[in-house]
Amino acid sequence: MGYGLALIFGYLLGSIPFGLQITRAAGLGDVRKIGSGNIGATNVLRTGNKGLAAATLLLDALKGTVAALIAGHFSPDFGLMAGFGAFLGHLFPIWLGFKGGKGVATYLGVLLGLAWQGALVFAVVWLAMAFLFRYSSLAALTAAVVVPIALYVIATPQIAGLFAVMSLIVIAKHRANISRLMAGSESKIGAKG
Ligand code: G3P
Repeated sequence: MGYGLALIFGYLLGSIPFGLQITRAAGLGDVRKIGSGNIGATNVLRTGNKGLAAATLLLDALKGTVAALIAGHFSPDFGLMAGFGAFLGHLFPIWLGFKGGKGVATYLGVLLGLAWQGALVFAVVWLAMAFLFRYSSLAALTAAVVVPIALYVIATPQIAGLFAVMSLIVIAKHRANISRLMAGSESKIGAKG
């Protein structure tokens, strides 16, 4: 396996839009037409179906974990490439005209595959922020800031550098959420619609 192949392998796995497929299969229509229009678990939760939201979170995360672990079996650097590929695949899926999600669950899944302690940091920060403020986006943005810093202490500089880049992309993808948070119009976790 070369670097290019690892990236493409991860990209193709990451491109699978589980949130969209799951809600369609459940007869709930196109999740892109409700709430924020995103294909991720937070927006699937706006259908009112917690099970589907949990399944979306799990599968969107797992595709990142699986990509990183399989490619990482050949070499640690391939694991990084495939993980990055999966993240990019979720954001820019070939199947959806390159219009995908915001990458939070897949970011977490890749993190779990490459540095599980980082995933623990992510989970603690996300859950604490979600508990305190009830905004999924704010919880994700805070975790995206904290995780790369933590990774410089608990993982390799390569892993920390990769997640610093991925965090910047996650933050950029949350531009509309940031505007809504500042305007006080962001919807809280569990609110339907
Ligand atoms: O994980 C995505 C979350 O941070 C925001 O989702 O649907 O509120 O834009 P959403």
